[in-house]
Amino acid sequence: MSSLEEVAEEIRLCRLCPLWRSRTNTVPGEGRRDAEVMVVGEGPGEEEDAQGRPFVGRSGRLLTEALEKAGLRREEVFITNVVKCRPPDNREPLPEERETCVSTYLYRQMAAVKPRMVILLGSVAVQTLLGKPSVSSVRGKAFEKDDVVYFCTYHPAAALYNPANKTTFFKDIEKAKQLLESLKAFKKQKTLDDA
Ligand code: URA
Repeated sequence: MSSLEEVAEEIRLCRLCPLWRSRTNTVPGEGRRDAEVMVVGEGPGEEEDAQGRPFVGRSGRLLTEALEKAGLRREEVFITNVVKCRPPDNREPLPEERETCVSTYLYRQMAAVKPRMVILLGSVAVQTLLGKPSVSSVRGKAFEKDDVVYFCTYHPAAALYNPANKTTFFKDIEKAKQLLESLKAFKKQKTLDDA
């Protein structure tokens, strides 16, 4: 199995899809190598492309605020995206770009971090990881797949442009944190029962 650093190094050199041509920096992701929670957005925007770090622009500030309000410090989660290079003009990543990037990198990052929960932000993440048509049908819900719990909510960009979405987004992140605590309590109880 590859380490997070090995995957990040491969991403830095990646030319598997055309997005490498227009990027300034790749954005592999950042956070704790053994994070309980992984957060997956869509793809880097302008700020992220300039800095090589995920969610450092306006959406990122809102995400950080929502996480911290829910009792999750940004440094203790692992934050990344479906695609690791900025799509030109902030267009959505194309299906083949998503598939290539997720199968080559994101799944290996998940295997290295082994999060209890993956929070999916917005439709691109929900479509790519769960095959659901859009976030609206699943927001606020959790799904278990291949031993990982996926929690779905809005992309923070949607929350920035609509105050109602912002309230919902903050509540969802709190709900995700509560679900995480229940999963941990359940696991602890099961360990005690099995002992
Ligand atoms: N939007 C995303 O989906 N990801 C980022 O890293 C920044 C903005």
